[in-house]
This record gives sequence, structure tokens and C-alpha cells, in this order.
Amino acid sequence: MRFDGRVALITGGARGIGRATAERFAAEEAQVAIADIDGDAAAKTAREIGRGAIGLELDVADSGAVEEVVAQVIADCGGIDVLINNAGIVRDASLLKTADEAWDTVIDVNLSGVFLVGRAVAKHMVERKHGAIVNGASIVGVYGNFGQSNYAASKAGVIGLTRVWARELGRKGVRVNCVAPGFIGTDMTAGLPKATLEAMVARTPLGRMGTPAEVAAAYAFLASDEAAFVNGQVLGVDGGLVLGT
Ligand code: NAI
Repeated sequence: MRFDGRVALITGGARGIGRATAERFAAEEAQVAIADIDGDAAAKTAREIGRGAIGLELDVADSGAVEEVVAQVIADCGGIDVLINNAGIVRDASLLKTADEAWDTVIDVNLSGVFLVGRAVAKHMVERKHGAIVNGASIVGVYGNFGQSNYAASKAGVIGLTRVWARELGRKGVRVNCVAPGFIGTDMTAGLPKATLEAMVARTPLGRMGTPAEVAAAYAFLASDEAAFVNGQVLGVDGGLVLGT
């Protein structure tokens, strides 16, 4: 029960890895606030999780809405102890076929979204001299991937933000780390061609895709006091896939 009495804000928590993370934190007694662009799904997930979880509609790329929702969670829940910056999307295409809109949308959500929510929550955490932020990167941000210029750039950017914030906020009582998942079975990967998935599994030393719960466990560790001296790290949750690159 590592999060008893703590409040965790989880972006993109309506489904996939975010939902599994919300379930994990709630199971360890956190009060969970799920902020997702799909407000109905966020509310439904919060109802299903129970334990006082709340669901809010939020587009993480909308600066004004981010400020409002963060203020609302602080008011309703009494503060934010943990931020899981998980919301993310893909719009895959090879470099020559990547349209401006696909570039902008992915950077707006995956990179600017992490920046906007992180900045709003960090202000509050610094005031309280206490907090843990865990950002959602990807192994694609470390080693690149065919057809993912926008996504790889956004996730490499998230790793950069993590390292800057770890340096800036450490003395102010706030730790910042990120997870870099490999291929995890969610709606995001369900749309990938079967051959791509099989190739990734073949290159993964553990010989399978990961589960959302396995990423959630990494988020929970990094956000917990067990990781009290862990700061600025990129924790791969990829079955060893990066080793095979
Ligand atoms: P998913 O597509 O299953 O869920 C993403 C959630 O984010 C959805 O609930 C969606 O409504 C929400 N969302 C999308 N745009 C949003 C916005 N603008 N504002 C707020 N919420 C928004 O995706 P999945 O697989 O659970 O991925 C979660 C995170 O993990 C993403 O950042 C993704 O890039 C990252 N990741 C996923 C991997 C995978 O293999 N599934 C691998 C590496 C990283």
C-alpha cells in the first residue's frame, strides 16, 4: 500500500497502460484522478475502479484546459502527490509521407502535453516541496523506428524533459523519471500489421509483448518512496528489446 493517503493524477488513464496504472495505484490505496480526452471513458473507468477515483475530460495539448483541470484536481482531492504523464498517440507514416498535420498533432499531444501538464503540476509540487513525476516515453525515443518520425521525436523529447526536470526540481523535493515501454498489448499496438508485431516479438529476448500491468508496475515503483533516490532515469520496460537492436 505504497500510496495510502496520496493523490495520483494519470493522463490518458481511460484505457490501455493508463488504465492499468490507475488500477494499480488505486489498489495501493491512492486516490486516483484520471484525465483523458475521452471524458466519458475516463468517468466510466473511474466508476469501475471505485475507491474514490474520479474521471475528468482533458486534452493535454490545451494549455488553458490543463491549468483548469490541474487546479480542479488539487481543489477536489486536496493536492497532487504523483503525476503519471501517460497520454500519447501515434500517426505513423514514413518521413516522405508525414503530413504537417500528423507531425503537429503527435508533437502537440506527446511532447507539448507532457510539458504543459508537467509544468502545471510541478508548480504545485514545488510549493509543497514534495512530489514524483513519471513521464511516458518509449523505446522508440531511444533507438528510433521505421515510420515514426513524429512519435520518435516526441518520445526523445520526453526523455529530454525528464532529465531537465530531474536537475531543476530535485532540490525542490520533486523527483522526475520516465518509463520507456517496448511493445505492449493495447489499442495503440492492435492496429499494427501482424508482421511488424511478430518481428518485434522475434527481436525481444523475453519472446513476447508486454502487458499494461507490467508497465503500471514500473510507474508505481518510480513514483513510490522505494525509488526515493532514483531521479532522472529512463526505465526500459521492453523485455530486453533494446538489447536486440
Ligand atoms: P492507448 O491508445 O490504448 O491509450 C491512450 C489513452 O490516451 C486513451 O485513453 C486516449 O483517449 C488518451 N489520449 C489520447 N490523446 C489524448 C489527449 N490529447 N489528452 C488526453 N488524453 C489523450 O495507448 P497506450 O498503448 O495505453 O499508450 C499509453 C502511453 O504509453 C502513450 O504515451 C504511448 O505512446 C506509450 N507507449 C505505448 C506503447 C505500446 O506499445 N502500447 C509502447 C511505448 C510507449
